[in-house]
Amino acid sequence: MYNEFDLDKIDINVEPPIEEPARQYYYMTKCREWVWEFEQKNGRRPAAFIQTFGCQMNARDSEKLTGILETIGFCKAEDEHAEFVLYNTCTVRENANQRVYGRLGYLNALKKKNPRMLIALCGCMMQEPEVVEKIKKSYRFVDIIFGTHNIFKLAELLWQRLKQQKMAVDLWEDTSLIVENLPAERKYPFKSGVNIMFGCNNFCSYCIVPYVRGRERSRKPQEIIGEIEKLVESGVAEVMLLGQNVNSYGKNLDVPVTFADLLKQVEAVKGLKRIRFMTSHPKDLSDELIEVMRDSKKICSHLHLPVQSGSSRILKAMNRRYTKEQYLLLVDKIRAAVPDISLTTDIIVGFPGETEEDFQETLDVVRTVRFDSAFTFIYSKRSKTPAASMDNQVAEDVVKDRFDRLLAEVQAISAQVCARDLHKTMDVLVEETDSHIEGYVTGRLSNNTLVHFPGEPSLVGSVVPVYLEESKGFYYMGKRAE
Ligand code: SAH
Ligand code: SF4
Ligand code: F3S
Repeated sequence: MYNEFDLDKIDINVEPPIEEPARQYYYMTKCREWVWEFEQKNGRRPAAFIQTFGCQMNARDSEKLTGILETIGFCKAEDEHAEFVLYNTCTVRENANQRVYGRLGYLNALKKKNPRMLIALCGCMMQEPEVVEKIKKSYRFVDIIFGTHNIFKLAELLWQRLKQQKMAVDLWEDTSLIVENLPAERKYPFKSGVNIMFGCNNFCSYCIVPYVRGRERSRKPQEIIGEIEKLVESGVAEVMLLGQNVNSYGKNLDVPVTFADLLKQVEAVKGLKRIRFMTSHPKDLSDELIEVMRDSKKICSHLHLPVQSGSSRILKAMNRRYTKEQYLLLVDKIRAAVPDISLTTDIIVGFPGETEEDFQETLDVVRTVRFDSAFTFIYSKRSKTPAASMDNQVAEDVVKDRFDRLLAEVQAISAQVCARDLHKTMDVLVEETDSHIEGYVTGRLSNNTLVHFPGEPSLVGSVVPVYLEESKGFYYMGKRAE
């Protein structure tokens, strides 16, 4: 965690500063006084629990939210039996929303037993006005609601709720603001996500993300490199550069920078061992990027390249802006440059108008590319998106049948592909002690495959060579090589 402000030196008896992040450090100091009062009365610090739904973006946002709560003085709770509960929500598919509503019922019961408990909701689902209306009407026990553009304001909103004794709601439709230098608490000491950009401008016709995450904004390279240098100083070996479409990084900066250029700068950070990034949109993955990946010693041998569908007709309706043939050509180019690369993807089945022939095209891509793994999704109708009003929605049973066939294909190929490095010795970044076998540790290969091998807990966070002795389909058993 890095903290550029000394809370003990902040005067909370004057008006709050206007500029960020100074304003938030002021409110963190105010909330800290409340935490101290709580501690005096109860003999312990109040506990906070954050539940994160959705993607890596939300996971990274939750690390920032945790950083703010820890700076205020909350201790960590293991579950919802806490004084402060925050759900960081996702709305990419309808079932993500249903899970949150289900959990809210449970929180209501807990709050009846512990009325001083505070419940906060943030994240992508809160950027939908219908959702917020529903919560204001039917879930009145919620205390704080904010969205994706103003997570940095958690302390200010918490203070507002503590003072005014009514629901604090703050939602921004979009923003051009990027607030730097707030605290962040990492889930893992040795690896961290790093946002390089926010939002999305692609408007794939099924996707709600551009509506809830706003327009694309890139952080300046010097801010990103500065953050990575600090992370490495504090023990980070691997960074995951995060953006909805990292390949369009830097286009809108005052001094434009390409993603390939940014990667070269990240590579130069001393002490950093591994670089990952997510997500790459196939439509603008450049030759320059492929060259940088080929020549890099730190970029991991893994590329997540969502295809979504194998049918050029459906891809057009999805507004993906590439064809099946262009996707396959891109895969060939990447494999020619980085032969051992592991490729993973996302696939949607049941997009409006998808026929059996279209679906066969998707199976064909799966068989041709032989992905290491694929996240497969049943198309979900999202409000405001163009696909939601297309009139040729596919029947549920047809979609379910296609989904099952796709999954079987993906899994069969994946089991074969994942064993490709058997009997080789490869570097493993050790992530944790093995939860199943005593005396073992678990780590990842550069291509993201898990490896279990006998080792001391002190290895966590280091990169060691491991002989891959046995393949178990999706992971290896190994032993340490000297
Ligand atoms: N920016 C990333 C994806 C973010 S969403 C990209 O473009 O690749 C993660 C995945 O969720 C998508 O790749 C897509 O496969 C899936 N997804 C998005 N909207 C969906 C919807 N309406 N129904 C089903 N799956 C969806
Ligand atoms: Fe959604 Fe497409 Fe943007 Fe990915 S690129 S977040 S799928 S709109
Ligand atoms: Fe979900 Fe928001 Fe990510 S909708 S997938 S958490 S950007």
